[in-house]
Amino acid sequence: ASRHLGRYVCMMVHPMNIVVLTGAGISADSGVDTFRDPDGAWVKNDPMKVATPEGFAEDPARVHAFYNARRAQLPTVDPNPAHFALAELEAELVKAGGSFTLVTQNVDNLHQRAGSKRVLPIHGSLDKAECSACGHVTVWKDDLSTETPCPACGTTAMRPYIVWFGEIPRHFDEVEDAMMDADLFAAIGTSGSVYPAAGLVAFARERGIPRIELNLEPSDNAALFTENHYGKASEIVPAWVKTVLG
Ligand code: APR
Repeated sequence: ASRHLGRYVCMMVHPMNIVVLTGAGISADSGVDTFRDPDGAWVKNDPMKVATPEGFAEDPARVHAFYNARRAQLPTVDPNPAHFALAELEAELVKAGGSFTLVTQNVDNLHQRAGSKRVLPIHGSLDKAECSACGHVTVWKDDLSTETPCPACGTTAMRPYIVWFGEIPRHFDEVEDAMMDADLFAAIGTSGSVYPAAGLVAFARERGIPRIELNLEPSDNAALFTENHYGKASEIVPAWVKTVLG
């Protein structure tokens, strides 16, 4: 009885349905560039030229070169303690009969490599390619070019499986469903500058649920959170997960 009681008490002491949003900052300690930090990708490249459908139409080779460089880096980086801590939090919550939804803006697959199961990559994945002609999506680890034939239809119209500015993020119906059930929301390593992801904290506020920000510095929407922790994700995320699991 005490074991079952303990289990019952355990279920009562921490939130049961958690939604976490992550951004480039959670992968910074793995060596992956963020976008808007001083050495970020959007400082070195013009996003309008390498991360929009118009930029791809104007100069596909330039866009392929940008994503080929980022895709080529993937085998050289590894998940860091922050990624592993979120995978552990998910496992513990699910074991206790709760749910955990990891909404990531990142395309580096590091959450999945760290063992996270329910990951919604709303901005796509660097390790996949999509045919602009037939829509076929395939795992893709190598360079892409304007000469790459689609494995399904043969047309040379492959593009990175990335959601560009002006395009619709993926999985957002699932994201909203998860937010409806959430009793805790956290945003980790994101500047809160790109919508609709950046709007999730306001959605959480409307639902009156606790909203935690974990970031190197205050994000654009830092004031909307009920709790803010600042520091390197690889340090503050494992510490935060320990407090959530109690
Ligand atoms: N630990 C925690 N946070 C960090 C770290 C770190 N080691 N290093 C940087 N950060 C924080 C920065 O302070 C910043 O607030 O991570 C955030 C990164 O912000 P961005 O570079 O804007 O990245 P992100 O928020 O993921 O961008 C969102 O914009 O360009 C689009 O599709 C792209 O998914 C991307 C989206």
